Amino acid sequence: VRYWPVLPAAGVGSRMKADRPKQYLSLQGRYLMDHTLERMLSYPLFERAVVVLSDEDPYWSASEFAGDSRVIRAPGGSERCYSVLNGLAALEGVAQDEDWVVVHDVARPCLRHSDLDQLFHELQDPGAILAVPTRDTMKRGHHSGEGSVIDHTVDRTQLWHALTPQVFRYGQLQQALTQCLDDGFEVTDEASAIEHCGQSPLLVEGRSDNIKVTRPEDLALAEFFLSRS
Ligand code: C5P
Repeated sequence: VRYWPVLPAAGVGSRMKADRPKQYLSLQGRYLMDHTLERMLSYPLFERAVVVLSDEDPYWSASEFAGDSRVIRAPGGSERCYSVLNGLAALEGVAQDEDWVVVHDVARPCLRHSDLDQLFHELQDPGAILAVPTRDTMKRGHHSGEGSVIDHTVDRTQLWHALTPQVFRYGQLQQALTQCLDDGFEVTDEASAIEHCGQSPLLVEGRSDNIKVTRPEDLALAEFFLSRS
């Protein structure tokens, strides 16, 4: 079997409040997503990677990987799950059903090879994701007046933050995502699609510095983590 990174990079990143999508912000003088691509393409198991890009993307042409023959380009969708499905479609006729697809947000540039090693060491059917146990006390709240108030404290001992990469069989992931769309089920990550189809993917504990750059303050954090690895 082979391993195929699929990297959704077609989001607009509105929470970042920047003049361009967050994947194209500069980190250590380089596109944020170029760090991610380098970490993926330098991993020995990966020969090529699918990069899912918006049709109206004026930034990609300046990426270090724009002309790289290892990159397979796919068109973005209106939501992340459509982007991932388009990425899978780009592998039609290339990937086999039993090959593993490794979906990773390009907005997570601090991923370390040691986390990939652990993920593939533990990988088993129906697939696995990197995750981190929650460390804060968790509250369920509800809206009240202007703000929110606490309903109750949620038992955190079995709660995890779902990160990426998330690894599933090519055929099974394509089928599960399609099934979710047919059922009107909201897909928040690849694992949620597999769960919807009655399967239980494995949680593999990863590093908490594998952050998804989401808000302006995350940029400095990512820069710090990158400088240490
Ligand atoms: O917005 P969020 O941080 O959840 O996006 C996660 C990843 O999915 C990002 O890498 C983003 O570029 C990608 N994405 C996409 N297509 C969309 C929305 C998000 O490829 N329609």
